[in-house]
Amino acid sequence: MELELEDLGSNPTDNRPFDDILTARIGRRAVLGGSLATAAITFLGTSPALAKGKPAPGNASSQPAFAGKKGKGGDLLGFDGIPLSAAKNGVVVPDGYTAQVILPWGTAILPGFSDGIPTSAADQEGKIGLGHDGMWFFPTNRSGSEGVLCLNHEYGTNSHLRNGLGEIDSEIAEDDEEFVKISQALHGVAVVKVRRSGDGWAVVPDPATNRRITGNTEVAFSGPVADSPLLENSAGNGFAGTLNNCGSGRTPWGTYLTCEENFNGYFRRRATPTDADERYGLTGDGSRYGWHVHDDRFDLSKPEYANEANRFGWIVEIDPMDASVTPIKRTALGRVKHEAIEIVEGKGKRIVGYMGDDQANDYVYKFVSAANWKSMRARGISPLDEGTLYVARYDEDGTGQWLELSMDVPALNARFSGMDDLLVHTRIAADIVGATPMDRPEWITVDPNTDLVYVACTNNSGRSTANGANPRTPNPSGHIVRMDDGDFVGTGFTWEIFLLAGDPDNPSDTSNGFGPPTDPTYAMNKFSDPDAVYFDPYGRLWILTDGGQPEGRNNQMVVADPESAEVRRFLTGPAGCEVTGITPTMEDTVLFVNIQHPGNGSSAQSNFPSTADGVVPRDATVVITKDDGGVIGS
Ligand code: FEO
Ligand code: CA
Ligand code: CA
Ligand code: CA
Repeated sequence: MELELEDLGSNPTDNRPFDDILTARIGRRAVLGGSLATAAITFLGTSPALAKGKPAPGNASSQPAFAGKKGKGGDLLGFDGIPLSAAKNGVVVPDGYTAQVILPWGTAILPGFSDGIPTSAADQEGKIGLGHDGMWFFPTNRSGSEGVLCLNHEYGTNSHLRNGLGEIDSEIAEDDEEFVKISQALHGVAVVKVRRSGDGWAVVPDPATNRRITGNTEVAFSGPVADSPLLENSAGNGFAGTLNNCGSGRTPWGTYLTCEENFNGYFRRRATPTDADERYGLTGDGSRYGWHVHDDRFDLSKPEYANEANRFGWIVEIDPMDASVTPIKRTALGRVKHEAIEIVEGKGKRIVGYMGDDQANDYVYKFVSAANWKSMRARGISPLDEGTLYVARYDEDGTGQWLELSMDVPALNARFSGMDDLLVHTRIAADIVGATPMDRPEWITVDPNTDLVYVACTNNSGRSTANGANPRTPNPSGHIVRMDDGDFVGTGFTWEIFLLAGDPDNPSDTSNGFGPPTDPTYAMNKFSDPDAVYFDPYGRLWILTDGGQPEGRNNQMVVADPESAEVRRFLTGPAGCEVTGITPTMEDTVLFVNIQHPGNGSSAQSNFPSTADGVVPRDATVVITKDDGGVIGS
């Protein structure tokens, strides 16, 4: 597996509150408990227009109300857990369930394209890309048998692309400009209408909704940074592209959010990297993709593109229902390596977004809209453009503080020239106010029954100093922290460790310390490296993994009961893959899950979704149904 950019910390601060804390805060349940009896959020899906004044498209459907529905979905863990897997090609689900592969790399989504490995950049622009990651399904009918799937394409390695091109005897070599353009077109987001047909699902090649948003698609900026000189290049090039689209989110007004994570990996360093470059990891020679060789805007050593990297690291809003609407980068949400965003409705109908910055020793953030989101939209203001950004400090006593990141904070006012400067350098602002360095915070999800906020910390093998919320030194296996954030809009919270991955019976485990494979407990519930996390409407916590599973077994998806913390394995992926990205369709009787980088792109390791030796593996989406038509997991 190649080096993950996020494994290496770039946080130079000594924000290490509560050194010497060796005791994990486990099972401290008493102070936690939901305070809101109401639904966290209701997805009306009626008005996804991004653009001010733009009429809402005619989407008559609605997402399920994500209210507490506990008890209506059957047993929380009603399936027989499956063992760990080392399968080369198979996705395994429990007895009574079926998994069907759809949307592998190269699937045509627009008229005039045909399925297969791309033959050119123009061909890739009409097809599903690589690096399937966060996604969300927006139904277009009542039953959810048809809808628009927004699907992130985080990245595709050059070797994976090269292998694919080799399979079709392409003449395009890795150092050709066309190779770079295909690579850029592999990235971004696919917006694709899909429909259930018989027992399967098929693409509906509808150009009104379907499109590829790539590393070169025109984008717009809004919020405090929109008109900042920090986004301007002397080259005068327009805003283009979204990159390293990792996890996802969605708004109550029916739009999709895609999160730009390891954007630094696309840029060649400038001659003398700045402190901000160091903090954001913009210190590489660009060799991970080599785009700068054929595309100057990814070369920071070219003064005319000095600010290009400031255009990445944002959360981007996309209208799933109208392919003509320009994606908008919402700058009020800050610029970090955004993993994902979980949006809930807080007190006063303000929307609240929880976000992780996935790097070793980086932070957890939240954004609170300035006012009731409906009234803001009625006034033509996006609730994602005006509000307050906070970063989390987890105190040793199980309380915590959301620290404001604004020019009203004297230390930040002294450091930054304005809110645009602060937001472009969100990490530095968070350093200054004393946020708690975390073990690579990835996805965050909110329990619809209790309103508790769950933060997946995937691992931090380099951690040498513990703090209360990150108790292992080092932490190769990861853990999940949960927070009671009250009505979501306040500045104080309480927290505890929900579970330690690896060996949960051994809080001081530092060794990916699983028992032997013959240990039945190990075989049925152990996992490592929690990454994507998702609460279904009934309160099941789905945990998807990305990292070294026990004994080198394949990545997986487990389900946890948030009350008992019982964990049961539901899905195992093919060799070399990461399991990431999850969405229901309408009634939670259909669940989509993504298989990213199977075989790490090499046919020697996996041929997924094919089973034929020699076939280059392809990232794909898996559709899971229960054979009796019931709720998934029940
Ligand atoms: Fe893209 Fe942190 O996973
Ligand atoms: Ca991830
Ligand atoms: Ca990860
Ligand atoms: Ca990953």
